[in-house]
Amino acid sequence: MNFDKTKALPPIRIVLVEDNEHDRIAFCRTFQSSGIDCKIAEYVRGEEALDAIRGNSPAFDIAVIDHGLPGMSGLELCKQLLAEQTFLPMLILTGKGSEQLAVEALKAGVDDYMIKDPEQHYLDFLPIVIPAVLQNHADRIARKKAEEALARAYDELEVRVEKRTAELAKTTEQLMLELDKRKCAEEEVRHLSRQLISATEEEKKRIARDLHDECGQVLTALHLGVESLYDSLPGGLTDQQGKCNELIGLIEELGDKARHISSELRPDMLDHLGLVPTLESYIEDFSERAGDLQINFQATGVKKRSGSEIEIVLYRILQEALNNIAKHAKAKHVSVLLTYSHPRLIFTIEDDGIGFWQRECSLSFPRKQQGIGLLGMRERVGSVGGSIDIRSGRGKGTFIRIEIPICSDKAGD
Ligand SMILES: Nc1ncnc2c1ncn2[C@@H]1O[C@H](COP(=O)(O)OP(=O)(O)O)[C@@H](O)[C@H]1O
Ligand SMILES: [Mg+2]
Repeated sequence: MNFDKTKALPPIRIVLVEDNEHDRIAFCRTFQSSGIDCKIAEYVRGEEALDAIRGNSPAFDIAVIDHGLPGMSGLELCKQLLAEQTFLPMLILTGKGSEQLAVEALKAGVDDYMIKDPEQHYLDFLPIVIPAVLQNHADRIARKKAEEALARAYDELEVRVEKRTAELAKTTEQLMLELDKRKCAEEEVRHLSRQLISATEEEKKRIARDLHDECGQVLTALHLGVESLYDSLPGGLTDQQGKCNELIGLIEELGDKARHISSELRPDMLDHLGLVPTLESYIEDFSERAGDLQINFQATGVKKRSGSEIEIVLYRILQEALNNIAKHAKAKHVSVLLTYSHPRLIFTIEDDGIGFWQRECSLSFPRKQQGIGLLGMRERVGSVGGSIDIRSGRGKGTFIRIEIPICSDKAGD
């Protein structure tokens, strides 16, 4: 019900259960004179009132129930109505000295009580108490509805949270599976790349050996042949002698070139003398061919062999890095450092050249515009479980840092 005083209220529909006729009459008079618009349905017995309320005809806004009734008592009627969930606001009227009963009624869920005093002063309060009971009841119902809605929303939320948690758990599981698959795939790629690198190295080694052995033998035979031809020439044939000397010069040049190619393909030294002397020798040869470029090499703490796989990786990286510097960097100085710092080898190559904008070489560039040198470095380092960091910028030179984990019995002291 709406109790806004500014609006015209519909009449309050009161069911009055009272066996005392005088009291009923007094009740109705009180309301007539109070100015409160109401319709009062009067019952003498609780059972009659119960039937009327159950049938909802007429519909009621409040029940005012005297306790002392013939048949079922007022409190029994109240309890029955509460048990049947009629939700009808109830005011119980009790005799003087029955406060205990009032407490029981309130505990059972009756909205309010009034004590009927013999002087009937309680009647004066009825026009105030009844609207208050109605208002409180309406507030309680609204609060209950709000609490129920809140509980429903909370339950829904719990269900949604449970559902979402289950979905998340499923997604996490899928992600973990994906991650595992990815790790396996990466492991496979690393394995394949390692096999490819080692097959390539084997092939280079074979070509280098063939070049050295077979071409070497043929060139030696040619050298000896031309020399004996020279010796067999009769004196005075200076033209032919000159030709022979020219041929010997060409044969020696060819021999040097074959040796250079063979050593580029696979430096014998690496197998026989180890990494540091091979890097030194390579840098020395390179410096001779590279003109003004100054290359400084330093090795610290590298006392044992690092394993042929790691040694060839570092050798190839130096080859590629120095070739890049000669080809692209326009550098004046290069610093190459090899350091064993337990449990890893750290290899750095730094130049003071023009550098490059790293996105120029990133994967976002079309494949054909990318060189494979830097990519190959990454592949090689990855194949031995190492990491590589390449830093460059226009006009800032280029810095390459490689870290390779080493077994404790290798490389260091
Ligand atoms: N030290 C360097 N100084 C300047 N630019 C470099 C250097 N190293 C690499 N680059 C740049 O990175 C590019 C990719 O190098 P790389 O992968 O070795 O391919 P390529 O040498 O065949 O061009 C080079 O084309 C060059 O632009
Ligand atoms: Mg290159």
